[in-house]
Formats: sequence, C-alpha cells, structure tokens
Amino acid sequence: MKLERERALDHTRDLVAAAWAEFDQARDVEPPVSPELLATLDLPLPEWGIDVVAALDEAAEALDQSLAQARPRYLAYIGSSGLEIGALADLLAHSYDPNLALHAGAATLIEAQALRWTAEFVGFPMAGGSFTSGGTVSNVTALAAARERVFPASRQSGETPGATVYCSSDAHYSIVRAIELLGIGSDNLRAVPIDEHRRMRPGALAEMVEADAAGGRTPMAVVGTAGTTLTGAIDPLDAIADICAEHGIWMHVDGAYGLPAASVIPERFRGLERADSVTVDAHKWMFVPKACGVVMVRDESALAAAFGHETSYIPGTRNAVDVTLEYSRPLRALKLWLAFRVHGAKKFRETIARNIEFAQCLHDMAAERGWEVGPAPDLSITLMRKPGIDNAELVKQLQADGRVYISHAVVDGETWLRPCFTNVRTTMSDVDVLMQVADEVSRASGLGR
Ligand SMILES: Cc1ncc(COP(=O)(O)O)c(C=O)c1O
Repeated sequence: MKLERERALDHTRDLVAAAWAEFDQARDVEPPVSPELLATLDLPLPEWGIDVVAALDEAAEALDQSLAQARPRYLAYIGSSGLEIGALADLLAHSYDPNLALHAGAATLIEAQALRWTAEFVGFPMAGGSFTSGGTVSNVTALAAARERVFPASRQSGETPGATVYCSSDAHYSIVRAIELLGIGSDNLRAVPIDEHRRMRPGALAEMVEADAAGGRTPMAVVGTAGTTLTGAIDPLDAIADICAEHGIWMHVDGAYGLPAASVIPERFRGLERADSVTVDAHKWMFVPKACGVVMVRDESALAAAFGHETSYIPGTRNAVDVTLEYSRPLRALKLWLAFRVHGAKKFRETIARNIEFAQCLHDMAAERGWEVGPAPDLSITLMRKPGIDNAELVKQLQADGRVYISHAVVDGETWLRPCFTNVRTTMSDVDVLMQVADEVSRASGLGR
C-alpha cells in the first residue's frame, strides 16, 4: 500500500489550513448533506482505490457538511474545540502509532508526565492513573477500583453483597452504566436529592447511607459530580468527603466536564483533594480533540488491584494493561502534553476563566432582556427560557436558523435553552450574537411576544 506521501501531505495541509481559517469565524448556517455526497456515501466497498487527492477532498467535504464542534458558535451539549496543536499531536501520534498497553519507552513517560501535569492543574494528589477514551470509561475504571477495595476479590467472585452506591439525581448517565456493567445493579444506585442550586444535599446523603448501613447494606461509593452535565452544578465535595471518611466509603469525583475550572476557582472544588478517584476529560474543557479522558487515583495500588493480571504473551512486570480497562491504547496523552508545552497552563486558566465569564454575562444579559434565567452559573452553562412560549420549539428553530448552535435541557419538566461555553474560539461577540439571534428568532417565529 504505497501512498504518494508528499502530494497527500501537501493536500492535507491545505485542507486543514482552510478548515482552521474557517473556524476563526462562525458560519451563517449549518449546511445540509448534498445529494452528490449522499451518493458517494452510498457506494459499495471499492475494489480499487481512487486518487488520494480526490479521496481526501471527499473526506473534507463530508466533514464540512457535518456539525463541527470546533466552531465558535457551537454551544450545544459540552462541546470540544479541536485545538490545533491537539490535532497535530494526533497526526503525529497516529503516524508513530505506539501501543500504550505495554511499556512503550518515551511514549509511556509522556503519558506519565501528562498525568502529573493534569493532576497538578486541577489540584488532585494523584498517585496513579491513565488516559482513557473519555468520562464513561474513566468512571467505570474508578468504580471498578472502588468495588475491589470494598469487596476484595469481587472481580473473581462477582459478589458484592448488599452494595449500594450514591450520586446526585443530576449525575451523568455513565454512572448508571458503570454500576450496571460492574454487576452491582442500578437498583442499588441511590439518587440523592439536590438543593435549589442542583447540588447534592449532603444531609440527605448521610441519612441514606445511615439507613442503608442500618439495614445491613454496604455503602460502597459516593460519586460527587464536579460540574453536572445539565446545569454545571458542583456537588459539595468537602461535605461528601466527611461522610465518606466517617463511613469508610470510596469517594469518586466525576469532573469530566467541570474539573478544569478547579484551576481557576479552586475554592468551589474544596474537598477534591480528599477523593479516592477522579475523572476529568481533556476533550471537553481542556480543548483537545476527542478522545482524551483521564482517570486518577490517590492510591496507586487501587487500579492494579482491579485490573492487574497475567497473560501468557505479556511480560510479567506491571504494564499499563494492568491498570486500565483497555488493551490497545493510542498515545492520547500527546495532545494534552503538547497543548501544555505550547500554550502553558496560564493560557488554559485564562481561557477557562473567559468561558465562565461568558456564561455569567449571558445570564445577566438574558435576565435584563426579559428572559427567565436559571440559578447563577457555577461554571459555564447558562439556563434561559422565554416565559409563556414553547422553548423546545424555539431551540429547534434556532438550530434550523444555524447562526448559533445550542441544545436544550429539561429541568424539572421545563425546557430551557442551555448554551455551554467550553470552546477556545468563542469570543464575547459570539455571546452577543447568541443573545441577538435568540431574541430575534423568538420574536420572528411568532413564538415570542
Ligand atoms: C459529568 C459527565 N460525566 C461523564 C460524561 C461522559 O463522558 P464521555 O462522553 O467522554 O464518555 C459526561 C459527558 O458529557 C459528563 O458531562
């Protein structure tokens, strides 16, 4: 399989440069998939290849007709930015293609260093961890360690008698998924009530834990969310840590989205340093391309206890496969390592601080213009809705309009607009445009007053 390397690289360079230049501005509308492209994407398996430049053009065209989270006015869900240095890191990493399952020389050291930098950045006293494919796998990994700690040898027996796990009613679904996959059963996952800021109520947690313990159950783990997906609420980590310490329960912090903000507003994350395990996604609010998750533990042996094993074709010393769920693993760490090297931690903190400011500004602006707003943002999500209209329809019309791309959130049965600022390219003028377009569409559509 020979490639015309220079031609392919030169052309890719042009395509990437054009895409990056476009990402500096928002586009006016999300384009539909063209009939020509639809026909191409319906072709059967090609027996013979085509010219590499033509094929690269097809790929770029398809990407350009896709939703691109990297654009500055993509404010839906929890977006990522496709940070340029991260994209280049991926090209490099995938070209060398080391396998981080086993000791891979300097690539393994890069992963270890990027882990240390991440821990330092968010302020967690990490003793071990790994890069993962994202928050879901990080949460499963951490809770597997918790299960083995609380029920030694449960990985062999499959038995976790009376295990119960706790998270707030707004925790991410990946916690449910983890508890199901680990054989604990989501019937044993307790949804702890939340307060008016949508943060876990520690008093309710304590009562639930005590009632379970008194009933002969074994409270195994509490998951505190440091930035819920729905509203960006940060659970009271210090109070959760007190309860976990008192009852000998594993404390996990799911900071997949919000934890990078601990580098800017550490006071809101107090108690993080007492957690047993932590999840943070670099592909969310640390701007690098997907997939780049991180799981960290404060006791190095915890992951090995859950994942260590011997396989006839792998050397006997401890390898990465002995502390991770995955076997073959790409060098995901390189994109974060290079991003820290090139931009420095200060730039990360400044960008995160700006995102938080955008959410606060939008919250204030919307309130001034007669929108109903949610609680003041803990992080970078703003909840806003027009009273008396169908806000779900408004979100659809905004998406169809295309000038800004936002998603909705259903909170206690009410639909809200839920812009989320995690993009490195978003500026204050994009926030202004969002406000103007939201006002305009809500009026023009006949939905508004
Ligand atoms: C708080 C939280 N945890 C976990 C996840 C899952 O992360 P991933 O999509 O990387 O698996 C998300 C995703 O949005 C999240 O917001």
